[in-house]
Amino acid sequence: RRRGVGLRRDTVLATLPVAVAAVIGAAGPTAADTTGAPGAGDPYFPLSGNGGYHVRHYDLTLRYDTSSRHLDGEAVLTARATQNLSRFDLDLQGLKVSGVTVDGAPAAFRRVGQELVVTSRHTLRTGRNFRVTVAYNGTPKPVTDPDGSTDGWIPTDDGAFVAGEPQGAMTWFPANNHPKDKASYDFTITVPQGRTAVANGDLLAQRTTHGRTTFRWRETQPMASYLATATIGNFEVEQYTTRDGIHVYNAVDPREASAAAPVLKQLPSVLAWESKLFGPYPYRSAGSIVDHAPDTGYALETQTRPLYDSAPDLNTLVHENTHQWFGDSVSLTSWKDIWLNEGFATYTEWLYAEQHGGDSAQKTFDADYARPASDPLWAYPPGDPGSGKNIFGTPVYVRAAMTLHELRKAVGDGDFFRILRAWTAGHRDGHGTTAQFVRLAEGTSGKRLAGLFHTWLYARGKPNSA
Ligand code: ARG
Ligand code: ZN
Repeated sequence: RRRGVGLRRDTVLATLPVAVAAVIGAAGPTAADTTGAPGAGDPYFPLSGNGGYHVRHYDLTLRYDTSSRHLDGEAVLTARATQNLSRFDLDLQGLKVSGVTVDGAPAAFRRVGQELVVTSRHTLRTGRNFRVTVAYNGTPKPVTDPDGSTDGWIPTDDGAFVAGEPQGAMTWFPANNHPKDKASYDFTITVPQGRTAVANGDLLAQRTTHGRTTFRWRETQPMASYLATATIGNFEVEQYTTRDGIHVYNAVDPREASAAAPVLKQLPSVLAWESKLFGPYPYRSAGSIVDHAPDTGYALETQTRPLYDSAPDLNTLVHENTHQWFGDSVSLTSWKDIWLNEGFATYTEWLYAEQHGGDSAQKTFDADYARPASDPLWAYPPGDPGSGKNIFGTPVYVRAAMTLHELRKAVGDGDFFRILRAWTAGHRDGHGTTAQFVRLAEGTSGKRLAGLFHTWLYARGKPNSA
C-alpha cells in the first residue's frame, strides 16, 4: 500500500462527485480514519516513520551468526495510539517476518516495500497503550541512501558495523523510523563467544554459555532510531568512570588499537570541555566503538557511544561527541534541519582548535570564505539542502558552521554561549527546529537576526560580504 503522504483519503473523497465517493468509500469511512499514515511526513524521506502512534520503548532480542551472517530477531514495541487505529505501519527493509502480535493476539501483516503493514484485531483507541511483537530473521543488508552512501547493518569481516543515519535502523529492527519519535531501548544480543556486541547506554550483563555470549544493554533516555547500534566484532574493551561520574565503555578493533589509543585517551577531557561550553553531558554513559570497516567511510554519533569506521582523529572525536548534545539529546523534527546537527558539530571542531593552540575560528572561517563561488561549499544553502541527496554535503557541515560564526560575531561571545546552553537545556531529550533556534538567538541577544540567518542559511550562492 502506497499513497501520497499528506494526501488524506477524506480530502480526496471531499473533492469527488458523490456517486464516485460512495463507491470508493464503500469500505466505510472508519476504515480510512483508523489507518495510520505510512510516513511521518518528512519530504526528504516520505516513507520514514509512520503516523498514528508513538513508540515509547523498544525491547530488541537479537542473535547474530557472524559466519553465516544470519540474524534472528524479536522486537517488542510499547506504543501509544495517537488516533484510533485498526491498521498501522512499521518500517522494516528486507528480512523475513514470521509473526506479529498486537497485545498478545496474532495480527495480520503484509510487506509493501519498506512498510510492514499490521492490521490489529481490535481498533486501538486514541491514547491507548499497546504492545506489538515482531518475530523476524534473515540476512540484513544495508540500505543505499540518495547520496549513494550505505547505512544500516553493514557486515564486516568479524561482525557488523551498525549505523542507521538517516534510514538504516529499519534494516535490523522494525521501527517508527524517524527522529520525531524517540524511545528508550533494551538490547539483548547473542553472538559467538569471543565476539563483542556493543549497543547504547549501560551494559547490564554479559554471560557466556555453550559457546555464545549474550550482552544486555539499556538506554533509558529517549533515542532516535537512527542512533541505535548493535555493532559486533572482535573488540578490546576498556571501562572506567570519569571524574564527573560518567561511565565510559570503549570497544576497539585490535587492528585500530595503536592509532586509536592516544585519541580515545582524550575523551574525558573533551567531554569536560564540551560540558563547560554546552552544559552538562546529557547521558550517564559514554565511550567509543572503533571498528575496522574499510568500506563505510563515515563515523556516526550513536547515542552515548559514537561509532568510528577506523581510528578517529581528535577532530572526529570532538565532532561525534558534540552530537551527543546537538542531534542526540536535541533531535531533528525534519531532515531538512540537518544543519542543527552538522553545523554545530563542525563549528565545535573550530572552537576546539581555537581554545587548544590551533587556528582561531575566524581564521578557519576566512580560509573557507576564500573558496571560489564555483566551490561545492556554495552549491546549495544549508538551511534548505533541497533533498535527502544533500543532507551530508559540504554546505551542511561548513557553511552551517560559518553561519554559527557569523551569529557569534553578531551577538558576542557571552550571548553566543548563552544561546547554546539555553538550547541544550531547553530541548534536552527532545526536539528542536530551525525556527525555534532563530527565535532563541533573537530573544537572548535582543537583536534582529532574520537577515543574518537568511543570508547564511537560505540564500543561494556565496554570500556577498562576510
Ligand atoms: N552524522 C554523521 C557525522 O557525524 C554522518 C553520517 C553519514 N551517513 C551516511 N549515510 N552517509 O557526520
Ligand atoms: Zn556530524
